[in-house]
Amino acid sequence: MSNSKGQFITVEGTEGVGKSTNMAFVKNWLEAKGHEVIHTREPGGTPLAEEIRELLLNKREEMVDSHTELLLMFAARCQHVYQKIQPALEQGTWVLCDRFTDASFAYQGAGRGLGFEKLKELETWSLQGFKPDLTLLLDLPVEVGLERAKKRGPVDRFETEKVEFFTRVRDGYLAIAEDESERMKVIDATGSIEQVQEQLEKTLAAFYHKVMMP
Ligand SMILES: Nc1ncnc2c1ncn2[C@@H]1O[C@H](COP(=O)(O)OP(=O)(O)OP(=O)(O)O)[C@@H](O)[C@H]1O
Ligand SMILES: [Mg+2]
Repeated sequence: MSNSKGQFITVEGTEGVGKSTNMAFVKNWLEAKGHEVIHTREPGGTPLAEEIRELLLNKREEMVDSHTELLLMFAARCQHVYQKIQPALEQGTWVLCDRFTDASFAYQGAGRGLGFEKLKELETWSLQGFKPDLTLLLDLPVEVGLERAKKRGPVDRFETEKVEFFTRVRDGYLAIAEDESERMKVIDATGSIEQVQEQLEKTLAAFYHKVMMP
């Protein structure tokens, strides 16, 4: 099994839907199947990309232009993909990532209103068609997620946005899920952690069956 390429799995969703909470569950499930798994996150994942993350998430006086935000996200992503994710996959390691390009489509494309077309061009140019093999979209009414995130601790620059912004982000994610239903699976995140993980397990098992026993 170590000679075959690893699979790239991403976890997506708006603020506080439970992405970070469920990363360990997904990683353990894959490791129990006998795979080497690394988990990582975006923006970030390498020292340089983590520095860009700081630039992006820190609250600041200066207005951050949407294009600047988008290009910084992709600058961090290129570093992450070419220095870390692709080399790991080549070695047969499975990679699990907390947010990826779909987040740029949802936040900058839909949330900030830059549109999907520009984003697709940038994705093609910078990542040359590199996409996750499976994306788990945790979906939750935005108010519930924001409440959960607020309870967790201090908010970052994105979390200070209004509910309307996150509603556009959520709708952006759901539009991608409709377009790419083979790759992106919607998980209802309204229930308890156990209920969410039950759905995650079902989705992972179906994906696993498809890629390992085609
Ligand atoms: N199913 C659930 N029910 C209730 N609370 C939950 C559930 N899942 C996660 N939480 C709690 O909600 C908060 C947000 O979860 P988490 O940090 O995993 O979200 P996230 O999607 O990673 O958020 P962010 O987008 O801000 O990174 C945490 O305090 C977590 O313990
Ligand atoms: Mg998180």
